[in-house]
Amino acid sequence: MAADITKELSPLPDRTPEPAFSADELVWTAAEQEQMEVYKKRYPTNDGAIMRGLWLAQDKYGWLPPEVIRLVAETLEVPYAQVYGVATFYTQYFKERKGKYVLDVCTCFSCQVCGGYDMLHHLEEKLEIHVGETTEDGLFTLQEAECLGACGSAPMLQITNGSYLHNLTTKKLDTLIDGLREGKRVPFVSVTLPQDADDLDGNRRSDVKATDTYHAPPVAKTVK
Ligand code: FES
Repeated sequence: MAADITKELSPLPDRTPEPAFSADELVWTAAEQEQMEVYKKRYPTNDGAIMRGLWLAQDKYGWLPPEVIRLVAETLEVPYAQVYGVATFYTQYFKERKGKYVLDVCTCFSCQVCGGYDMLHHLEEKLEIHVGETTEDGLFTLQEAECLGACGSAPMLQITNGSYLHNLTTKKLDTLIDGLREGKRVPFVSVTLPQDADDLDGNRRSDVKATDTYHAPPVAKTVK
């Protein structure tokens, strides 16, 4: 008898979920509308502005349920399916509600061997959630991420698609979480690797000897 393979199939996502935002909420402010017009003019065709438009919408609504994706599509006058395809391709576009701070802890190769999972598990304990979950106060979502391109300062994490926190230690994580809970700007957060030792601002593990890594020229000498 043939095996019943339907039992192994993943359930399809709900294609008509209850809207999270009302029609009254699904409008741009004048400034946002103006910004969308700027994006449209920047590209030869409006579909070039899809990513920018989605980013603006995510900033405004916090995430991208279907009705928000449709708002972007209608504003840009491109098919909904095209915008939906872009939104669902990139994990940086949130298709479900997230916390105010989304912590992407890298556990890829370099970060993993440098303690990425220790950092992830420390955050699970401190925030009392499992990876993939959001704290009850809606402040933090904890996620596991693939390489974020900062292997030279592993282990590291990213905060809500933006700032990087390098050379993680449990103490540094505690400072980060406690600071964010109090609404404070947290030290040693940078969007790029520090280029000057004087600017490190605590952004380096004290047990790692300084190297010339951060002073490497942007182009290899052998490349003409
Ligand atoms: S492995 Fe973590 S940033 Fe590359």
